[in-house]
Amino acid sequence: MSKQKILAILQKNAGSFISGEAISQQLGISRAAVSKAVASLRGEGYEIRSVTNRGYCLCAAPDSLTEGEILPWLNTGHVGSNLLVFQTIDSTNNYLKREEEHLPSGTVAVANEQTGGRGRRGRTFQSPGDVGVYLSALLRPDVEPAKALNLTAYVAVAVCEGIEAATGLKPEIKWTNDIVLHGRKLCGILTEMMLESESMTLRSIVTGIGINVNQREENFPEDIRTMAGSLAMMTGEPVRRGRLTAEVINALDRMYADWLSGGADYLERYRRRCLTLGRDVQLLHPDGTVEPAFAEDVDEQFGLVVRMPDGKRRTVTSGEVSVRGLYGYV
Ligand code: BTN
Repeated sequence: MSKQKILAILQKNAGSFISGEAISQQLGISRAAVSKAVASLRGEGYEIRSVTNRGYCLCAAPDSLTEGEILPWLNTGHVGSNLLVFQTIDSTNNYLKREEEHLPSGTVAVANEQTGGRGRRGRTFQSPGDVGVYLSALLRPDVEPAKALNLTAYVAVAVCEGIEAATGLKPEIKWTNDIVLHGRKLCGILTEMMLESESMTLRSIVTGIGINVNQREENFPEDIRTMAGSLAMMTGEPVRRGRLTAEVINALDRMYADWLSGGADYLERYRRRCLTLGRDVQLLHPDGTVEPAFAEDVDEQFGLVVRMPDGKRRTVTSGEVSVRGLYGYV
């Protein structure tokens, strides 16, 4: 534990020296404990200089997904109040669903790698280690299940805002909740609801977010290579995953408070980022049929309002909608 505290002190003073004496006094631990923790941090890849009579200076930090890299940026109330970080796990959504009974609302599970990452419609979500951020939040709002159906759209807005805070990029939303930039998918969201089987009341919600962060184009599997993108491909430089994770959790926390109180202008924020609007689309039905349409609006429930070729308006509330000019639809 004191190792994390020492890391936080070094991070706060990054680039300048702080004496071992000052650290040991601040934390009420011995000088020997400080130097042991510094050695251990070096073993994890932190470059820490030590100079006689000046102390320690953090010069460079690895892009590891650890509490030590996330906590200094975290500024949350409910979402993220219990933070669990895994190096490898099957799926952060699965973990929270498995352990749901023992975990408080607001728990966030973060993973450096997922071996069984899941996407929507039973698809797998490629979750390689060291290049992505995979996280899920457990929420227990006291609302009817129907009221919770729009939460995933709010999550999409929050994820865009978190990415923007960390990188300055301005991601867009492909209805309903793919996060896209320059025509490539950066991030997917999978929101799952747990209902009480007898009363059909809402027990909890797990919302999972997978972000491609530092992949290069050739790292993506061939079948998605032209459609997928990473933040580093957009910024042209590596993106630090600890800060990004924290900014996404911070944005989720603000969003959840707003969602519960029914306040804030998420519908407007969603519409502004929704790249589907004003474009030709195809409605892909579960039976394999495809209908052309034009996307006109997003309604109060975050349904997609489309104009059909016969001039009639229709609201789409679920299913796949492909957008002309995106993901190979020309
Ligand atoms: C999609 O685009 O189909 C949704 C992808 C959701 C992936 C995230 S990664 C964190 C969480 N754990 C999972 O197994 N899935 C979600």
